[in-house]
Amino acid sequence: MADLTTKIASLTLRNPTILASGITGVSCDSLKRTSEGGAGAVTSKSVTMEARKGHNNPIMVAFEGGFLNAVGYSNPGIDHALQEFSAYDGEAPFIFSIVAKDAEEFGEIARKADSLQACAAIEIVLSCPHTPGYGTMAGQGTPQATQDITRAVRQQTKKPLSVKLSPSIQALGDIAKAAESAGANAINMGNTAGPGMVIDIERGQPVLAFKVGGISGPALKPLAVRCVYDVFESVKIPVIGTGGISNGKDALEMMMAGATAVGVGTAVHYRGPQALGEIAREIDAWLDAHGHASPGEIIGIAHENEPRK
Ligand SMILES: Cc1cc2nc3c(=O)[nH]c(=O)nc-3n(C[C@H](O)[C@H](O)[C@H](O)COP(=O)(O)O)c2cc1C
Repeated sequence: MADLTTKIASLTLRNPTILASGITGVSCDSLKRTSEGGAGAVTSKSVTMEARKGHNNPIMVAFEGGFLNAVGYSNPGIDHALQEFSAYDGEAPFIFSIVAKDAEEFGEIARKADSLQACAAIEIVLSCPHTPGYGTMAGQGTPQATQDITRAVRQQTKKPLSVKLSPSIQALGDIAKAAESAGANAINMGNTAGPGMVIDIERGQPVLAFKVGGISGPALKPLAVRCVYDVFESVKIPVIGTGGISNGKDALEMMMAGATAVGVGTAVHYRGPQALGEIAREIDAWLDAHGHASPGEIIGIAHENEPRK
C-alpha cells in the first residue's frame, strides 16, 4: 500500500482527493458524508457576504461531456454558513470557500471565515464564469486583482489559503505568481471553463435560464491538465488540480502534470459521496502496481519526461 498522506502548507490530508466547491458542500451533513466516504478534504459551497438566491431555474444541464451550470452562488450568506459549519467534525479537513465583490469585501468575509474553529483552510474563488459581480465577470481574473484580493485576505488569516483560478484565462502563469507573491499557500487550478451554452433544438433556446454556464466534467479534463502543467512551471506553492477527474487514472494524470492534490466535483454526481475514497483507492492500486511508495514520486513527472533539446 502506498502512503497517500498529502501536505498542503500546514494542512495534512489522508489522501490527495478534495471535494470541489459547490458539489454537495451546502450543508454540514453532506460534507460529513463525503468525509465518511473517504475524502482527503472537503470544500464548502462558496459563500457570499449576504444570502443570494442565485440564477433562476434551469441552473444545470447534462451534456455528453459533463455538466453546464449557472447556479449563480445561491447560498444563505456567511453568518448562516458559520452556524451551519460550526458542527463540522469530519476526519477530512474542512476548507471554507468564499467569494466577494472586491478586495475589501473579501477581507471582511475572510475574517469571519477565519473565526470558525472547524475551518482548516480558506479558498478564495476569483474565477466563476457566470455570476455578474463575481469572478471573471467582475474582472477578478487579472494579476492585479488577484494580488489585491489575495493580500486583503492574507491580512485576515494565518490559515492555509488557496486561490482558485479560471482555466479560461490566458495569463495563468502571471496570475498564479501574483497569488503566490501576495501570500497564497496553494493554487486551485481550477474552476469550470467557459462560459458555454447548450441549446434545446425543439424550443430553439438556450437550456439554462442564464443562457450560459460553466463547463465541468470529462470535457474539461484536457484543458485543466494543461492549465495545471503551466501553473506548476510558474509557482513553487502546491497546485490542486481540478477539472474532469472521474477516476484514479484521471487523478494520476493531473498529478503527473504537477498537482499535489486533486479536486473532484462532477464525478460525485455520478459516483456518490464515496467517490473520493474510491478514487483514492484507485490511485493507491496504480501506485502499488507500478512500484511507487507515494504520490510524491509521480507529481510533475510529465515535466521531467519532456524530451530534452
Ligand atoms: C453545480 C456546480 C456548482 C458549483 N459551484 C461552485 C462554487 O460555488 N464555487 C466554486 O469555486 N466552484 C464551483 N463549482 C466548480 C467546481 O468546484 C469545480 O471547480 C468544477 O466543476 C470542475 O471540476 P469537476 O469537473 O470535477 O466538476 C461548481 C460546479 C458545479 C458543477
